[in-house]
Amino acid sequence: MKYLSYKNNSNKNQLFVENVSIQDIAKEVGTPFYCYSKKAIIENYQVFAESFANFDHKICYAIKANCNFHIVKILAELGSGIDAVSAGEVFRAVKAGIDPKKIVFAGVGKTKEEIAFALSSGVEEFSAESEAEIFALNEVAQKLNKKIKLSLRVNPNVDAKTHDKISTGRKGDKFGIDIDKAEEIYEKAKKLPALEIYGISTHIGSQITSIEPFKKAFEKVRELCLSLRKKGFDIKSLDLGGGIGILYKNENTLLIQDYAAMIKEIIGDLNVKLTIAPGRAMIGNAGIMVTKVIYLKETDHKNFVIIDAAMNDLMRPGLYDSYHEVLQESIKHGVKLSYDLVGPICESTDVLAKNRDFITPKSEDLLVFCSAGAYGSSMSNEYNCRPMIPEVLVENNKFTIIRRRPTFEEMLHLEV
Ligand SMILES: Cc1ncc(COP(=O)(O)O)c(C=O)c1O
Repeated sequence: MKYLSYKNNSNKNQLFVENVSIQDIAKEVGTPFYCYSKKAIIENYQVFAESFANFDHKICYAIKANCNFHIVKILAELGSGIDAVSAGEVFRAVKAGIDPKKIVFAGVGKTKEEIAFALSSGVEEFSAESEAEIFALNEVAQKLNKKIKLSLRVNPNVDAKTHDKISTGRKGDKFGIDIDKAEEIYEKAKKLPALEIYGISTHIGSQITSIEPFKKAFEKVRELCLSLRKKGFDIKSLDLGGGIGILYKNENTLLIQDYAAMIKEIIGDLNVKLTIAPGRAMIGNAGIMVTKVIYLKETDHKNFVIIDAAMNDLMRPGLYDSYHEVLQESIKHGVKLSYDLVGPICESTDVLAKNRDFITPKSEDLLVFCSAGAYGSSMSNEYNCRPMIPEVLVENNKFTIIRRRPTFEEMLHLEV
């Protein structure tokens, strides 16, 4: 996690995000909460912008990773576009100041209502994932008297060597159009009057930590591009998706600069407009989740730390056995014991970290889940009638609440 460090504060070593103590935030907003570093977000964006500076490109932040309005606003101000997969994401992006012409509407199941909403919001680029979808796109665009810039998302049948549940580019995954069938569908799309054949898109999965799977997929996309051009299709754009992994534990992650250099090698001579759509790599290491110890429970088999955050606040461990490093908010001295960190939810999956060595914490101590900026708050929900947790943005020595905790009354509002 960037800009998270222990600093000496009144003779104690305590965790800070940039120059704000986590204790101070916890005192004001209560726990649990998410906290982001603005500097880290800007820096992450700039690494992409600089690495792709000599491409004709746009960066379309995959808003699903974290859709907080204020975070999207920061990215809009930096010039980012958006990869959206629902009408709600399109709405948020446009509200936050994203130029609709820089929005790509992707996703496997856009409804006609969503297509109409996006077109009426000024979105032009769509990435279709099935033959049936191209007819729906054409029908809605014709009705609204609009033209769609169409890419087909192809499934290149490449194993991204990541967790099974975040792999999207193998035969049998629900995403995209089999790359071997794509040309047939381009032929059909060409006949539909409201569609302009614009490009090819692909996205093979998430948390990918080596360059090889990307290379394999992009080489296949290059072949398809050349073949389509030979048949007279004017392929102007390649959308190579996201998927770049971040450091959660001890992964050998790849450098964005190396990723860009590999892309240059493969598509540098194609004279295309390039879209890249990073989500996790933009926001994952810019955020943490802070939680408080409620109780310790020691049994013959295991020691548990029961914390006030749960699987509804951070689903990733329960959903994909994912690992988040956990730090004690203030440095303590003593013997370390092994603990499982569990939430209060009535599910056995509500285990946020397993077998972690800690100096025995006590009730009210704060613990920090690192690299929780992506697919943390955006996947959270109200299970067990737990309020969605607040989000805080730190900028140097100030912090702002960018999503407040709802009251129980507010949680009931849509039902009564
Ligand atoms: C089409 C598309 N693009 C980009 C992304 C972002 O992926 P990541 O967060 O791994 O960069 C996703 C994630 O599911 C996606 O489906």
